[in-house]
Amino acid sequence: MLVEKNVSLQSANSFGIAARAKRLVRVRSQDDVREAATRFDLARKPFFVLGGGSNTVLTSDVKSVVLKVEIPGMALVRETPSSWIVQAGAGVVWHELVAWTLEQGWPGLENLAMIPGTVGAAPVQNIGAYGVELQDRFHSLTAVDCLTGDVFELDAAHCAFGYRDSVFKHAAPVAAEGAGWQRGMGLAGRAVITQVCLALPKAWRPVIDYLDLQKKCEETGVAQPDAQRIFDWICAIRSAKLPDPAVLGNAGSFFKNPTVTPEQCRDIIAREPKIVHYPMPDGSIKLAAGWLIDACGWRGKTVGRAGVYEKQALVLVNRGDRSDPQASVTGGEVMTLAKAIQTSVYERFGIRLQPEPVVI
Ligand code: EPU
Repeated sequence: MLVEKNVSLQSANSFGIAARAKRLVRVRSQDDVREAATRFDLARKPFFVLGGGSNTVLTSDVKSVVLKVEIPGMALVRETPSSWIVQAGAGVVWHELVAWTLEQGWPGLENLAMIPGTVGAAPVQNIGAYGVELQDRFHSLTAVDCLTGDVFELDAAHCAFGYRDSVFKHAAPVAAEGAGWQRGMGLAGRAVITQVCLALPKAWRPVIDYLDLQKKCEETGVAQPDAQRIFDWICAIRSAKLPDPAVLGNAGSFFKNPTVTPEQCRDIIAREPKIVHYPMPDGSIKLAAGWLIDACGWRGKTVGRAGVYEKQALVLVNRGDRSDPQASVTGGEVMTLAKAIQTSVYERFGIRLQPEPVVI
């Protein structure tokens, strides 16, 4: 465990916001987390867990303890008749895990290539892209309960995964299925994920229904791509339309794609015939937030030092100078832009967009 005081978080968040942490604790093992919980009295005092900082907007300096999870390691821990069970430390860079599993000959994560962030952050918001969500490949995870100091394991049901959602995003009670030691409880501000186990299917099949992947099949004439080819396609698709946080600060999609009822959707289509919408298995309709923002004229716009990315209106970017902490975007500027976007989408479509990143 390494404790640092008055540390800049600018390089620890993908927006490049120049906030500082009063105390940053780097934890490299489960024991480090338990030790930090005791030493900093995390059962009683609020703390904030930072992984890759790719889904975080810092609106001020952080006064509570920041736990920077840097737990390493990737290994095959078990093989079942149907799956390879792979375990990774919460501090592993997600994309490195995806690439490593493919190299080992265990496909299944290729559609999730190049999602910024760490393995420990992946279950928190149930990361997803191109037709696959973390929950589709999830086996279990290990975490430390900072309230009691206990180490516990959760399976998928207890994680209560939803669209960019899980029990780790909720501090208040959530409706979780089934029995368990944390039944009905939210774990935000309480649990620190230390290890994640994924079940990679031996009977692998490509997931290529997504329009961008269908286009790749047509362009290349490859109807049944292998996992490596899908990985390469995803990397190319993402690089073409999403900004590289190392070059242009951002936190990925800034808003969740909203869902509406079929009646609401019919009403909107009557006014906006071109609206992008996808029917969901539960009967609701998902709308593309990027399209809504784009339709309101925000794509490419800049307010202060916060901007809307010109190739994907769902991504807000840092238009400031990241090399100078005084000239980089502030969390306040990002939230001002976000609120202006929410207001115009609400005024035009009657839809309230919900931010996807954690706002601190
Ligand atoms: N669109 C526009 N204008 C825009 C942006 C999008 O018209 O400026 C339209 C697109 O043409 C498309 C539709 O909106 O018809 C959806 O866009 P896209 O395919 O780019 O996907 P998305 O719904 O905006 C989601 C995820 C991404 C994920 C992609 C691919 C959310 C909030 N975002 O984006 O996830 O990579 O699908 O699966 O669910 C993230 O969460 O950080 C993230 C990048």
